[in-house]
Amino acid sequence: DEQKADYKARIKALLKARDAVLVAHYYTDPEIQALAEETGGCVSDSLEMARFGKTHPAKTLIVAGVKFMGETAKILSPEKTVLMPTLEATCSLDLGCPADQFSAFCDAHPDHTVVVYANTSAAVKARADWVVTSSIALEIVEHLDSQGKKILWAPDKHLGGYINKQTGADMLLWQSACIVHDEFKTRALMDMKALYPDAAVLVHPESPASIVEMADAVGSTSQLIKAAQTLPNKRLIVATDRGIFYKMQQLCPDKEFVEAPTAGEGATCRSCAHCPWMAMNGLKAIYESLTADELQPHEIHVDPALAEKAMVPLNRMLDFAE
Ligand code: 13P
Ligand code: SF4
Repeated sequence: DEQKADYKARIKALLKARDAVLVAHYYTDPEIQALAEETGGCVSDSLEMARFGKTHPAKTLIVAGVKFMGETAKILSPEKTVLMPTLEATCSLDLGCPADQFSAFCDAHPDHTVVVYANTSAAVKARADWVVTSSIALEIVEHLDSQGKKILWAPDKHLGGYINKQTGADMLLWQSACIVHDEFKTRALMDMKALYPDAAVLVHPESPASIVEMADAVGSTSQLIKAAQTLPNKRLIVATDRGIFYKMQQLCPDKEFVEAPTAGEGATCRSCAHCPWMAMNGLKAIYESLTADELQPHEIHVDPALAEKAMVPLNRMLDFAE
């Protein structure tokens, strides 16, 4: 509508004026992803967001996603200004892994290589040997396992459990979960598969093991988008945040995408297939981030001493992924 068009026009002008670029995650709302595409920004998974932010020449990055993505961008590019539509957009995995408790866990297992998921605070990353995202986690753990390393993994228990099963590596797992993926329901998914016997099931590995076991393809957001394109099925049941449908439908206009069920009969869920924090990234908030002042801060700051430490395992991941 008119107001949205107005915000879009203003944002486009401000992006140019401020030498800024929009970096959006696949889970943000379709209009945000479309705006990033229209303005020469990027829409991608968390690994590519990190790489894009680091290598893009713009002076300012607007990170439409959640806090750890903004912090990662700032850690990798301390000289850039990193803005976020809201500083309130966190992640249940980040919240579920407080730095002091995590540090004590590491101290208790000094013979382990510390591998943390990107969905963590700068302080947790600063304690890690490796940072991984879901696109590259399996390969990195395979690599460490082949060197005979014992691994301390945090924070996602489902992703950690999946990788453990795939690699057989010696892994100690922190026990947090993503509130969105944790809600997918096995019985209801069985019923849905019975209803659509021709459909393939795509699952993000932050989902419970019983859901992953029913998958035709398991992977990060970018890997699931690829699977949607390559699998022959015309109908796909998707167990991840529904924000991903924008890109899947754009790349596969003839296919039908169905949300995997988040609630059994009579049950309710806290965050039905859409991350409440990703949902905070609206057009108005992006506009406000570009016009922010001290009263309404939108800029990401990371303690320089922590950032210096966290940069090491982040760059290790980017170098490995190349
Ligand atoms: P990826 O895009 O790396 O698969 O991450 C998923 C996620 O939960 C981001 O919040
Ligand atoms: Fe965190 Fe889950 Fe939201 Fe991703 S979808 S940001 S893992 S709460």
